[in-house]
Amino acid sequence: MWAATDGKKIWIGKDKVNTGKGTVDPKNPPEWARVFPASFLDKLTKIKRGPAVINKKDIGTILSLTGLGSDWKVAEGGSGSGYLTLWLSRLVKKVYSYEVREDHYKIAKKNVDDFKAKNVLMKNKSIFELSEKNLDMVLYDLPNPWEGVDAAYSALKTGGYFVCYLPTVNQVRQWLISTRLFKDHQIVSSTNIEWKTEPDKLRPMNSGLTHTAFICVTRKIPRLQGK
Ligand SMILES: C[S@@+](CC[C@H](N)C(=O)[O-])C[C@H]1O[C@@H](n2cnc3c(N)ncnc32)[C@H](O)[C@@H]1O
Repeated sequence: MWAATDGKKIWIGKDKVNTGKGTVDPKNPPEWARVFPASFLDKLTKIKRGPAVINKKDIGTILSLTGLGSDWKVAEGGSGSGYLTLWLSRLVKKVYSYEVREDHYKIAKKNVDDFKAKNVLMKNKSIFELSEKNLDMVLYDLPNPWEGVDAAYSALKTGGYFVCYLPTVNQVRQWLISTRLFKDHQIVSSTNIEWKTEPDKLRPMNSGLTHTAFICVTRKIPRLQGK
């Protein structure tokens, strides 16, 4: 994939780049254009979208709350559009991605294949039937995580992280009640304020995203006998 710019706007394309000023051939760009290989973020702007994807700022929060790393094995569900899957694939060793709906599975699989994300195993089934063990993290971005608490518990290694991405307080309450077996609960919501980048009008944008979701994190830490 390639990015082409006229110095102001950036356009992304596969073999040729369609811009507002005509098609750019990366091997023979016109004088007005500069061309460079598309970055990971550039490529993400082009993925096929089905269900709503997780917000970028929340991916940063998940990373900082779990410290996930390059030796981790993780399971996530649902794959949705595969947006988080692609981020996880970039950051950890192995991703098991579950999606219950066939149409969403096909979208996510295509995106994962297009990115040649070889460390991702996609499964068209409910994550509540996940079969992996000894995982470092299980992440649910789905509406009813309390129905899959036991499945997450038995898939995690001791000390592993159970992360749920939940838009409403009502869901968070139900998640809290259903995860009593876990320890070290954290509930975080974050707001990023985007600023205008005009030197003479440096101020926050007038509008932007306010609430996305609560990031709910807890850990599998079994109780000592008799405690
Ligand atoms: C909001 S989307 C996930 C978006 C995804 N995190 C992304 O960034 O592209 C929620 C997805 O969860 C799927 N889903 C709901 N329950 C599920 C389950 N028990 N197992 C697997 N997928 C499930 C839905 O079909 C939907 O595609």
